Amino acid sequence: MQPISNMLMMILVIGILTYGAIRVMQGSLTMGALISFLMYLFQLMGPVIMVSQFFNELAKTSGSTERIREMLNEPIEESADDQKVDVAGKELQLQNVSFSYEKDKQILHNINVVAKPNMVVAFAGPSGGGKSTIFSLIERFYKPTSGKITIGNENIDDVDLTNWRHQIGLVGQNSAVMPGTIRENLIYGLDHEVNDDELWRVLKMAYADKFVKESEDGLGTQIGERGVKLSDGQRQRIAIARAFLRDPKILMLDEATASLDSESEAMVQKALTSLMKNRMTLVIAHRLSTIVDADRIYFIDHGTVSGSGTHEELVKSTSLYAEYVHNQFKK
Ligand SMILES: Nc1ncnc2c1ncn2[C@@H]1O[C@H](COP(=O)(O)OP(=O)(O)OP(=O)(O)O)[C@@H](O)[C@H]1O
Ligand SMILES: [Mg+2]
Repeated sequence: MQPISNMLMMILVIGILTYGAIRVMQGSLTMGALISFLMYLFQLMGPVIMVSQFFNELAKTSGSTERIREMLNEPIEESADDQKVDVAGKELQLQNVSFSYEKDKQILHNINVVAKPNMVVAFAGPSGGGKSTIFSLIERFYKPTSGKITIGNENIDDVDLTNWRHQIGLVGQNSAVMPGTIRENLIYGLDHEVNDDELWRVLKMAYADKFVKESEDGLGTQIGERGVKLSDGQRQRIAIARAFLRDPKILMLDEATASLDSESEAMVQKALTSLMKNRMTLVIAHRLSTIVDADRIYFIDHGTVSGSGTHEELVKSTSLYAEYVHNQFKK
């Protein structure tokens, strides 16, 4: 709208100038009258532009309002008979799970996965295979189109959602750090009070205590957009400390693809290894060491499990896997 109205305005001014100049040359209009006419015209233009911008703004706002309303009206599917379930020591299973985000485009086909307590289960495979989608289903951001996910004998859909999410710890690919203090970043969303000693303890376990101690305000150090910029490795270690604090029964780990420098990498790796102890870990593996060390690997390709087992077993049984590992980790 803006360029069009600007152009019309300019055409108008040029028109008036031309017509006015001819009238002045003919002597039927004084120079002063033409100039004052133009001055009044410019004064009028300001408000006219404002009115047109107002309608622009109005159209934008009503669009946004519509979307916010849609979001607020989205039903929360939680029934009163959902149960609290302690997932510790229980087996997590995906049974014949199929899923599609959109109709007619199935992403996962009959996925079967078994994860036992204290086991490290790795998901590996080419990009777009469906690994993150499997994670989304377990986190209950989506529901399987068919099949079910169970914990012990319970369908996870029947578990109280808050209760379920509180028992899962997630360390993502690009670990999110929010603008705020380190303390706020650690405790956000936590369901119980913690003191600073506790925070230092988890920072230490995540090998993140050193750089926090070195910064001026300690736990109160502002990070994120307006505060101290953290390196990728430091951000990941903050995310790991956050997971330690929650002490989740199930750890879900989406390994970062971007590589860190080797010192930082080693620290992240050590922190993760100790975080993985004594709990079930599901990991989308991008590092060869994670894959090799996993108790069980699921090779996910085009939405199916093309093979599962330990690294040695898979190399022998599934040629696609052997090829994938070879290509991925040639170096
Ligand atoms: N929100 C979504 N809506 C529609 N399609 C999606 C959505 N998210 C993912 N997909 C599609 O689902 C398929 C699997 O994607 P997914 O993210 O699970 O792959 P991935 O195995 O995690 O890949 P990568 O290793 O690159 O992270 C892809 O074809 C992708 O285009
Ligand atoms: Mg992914």
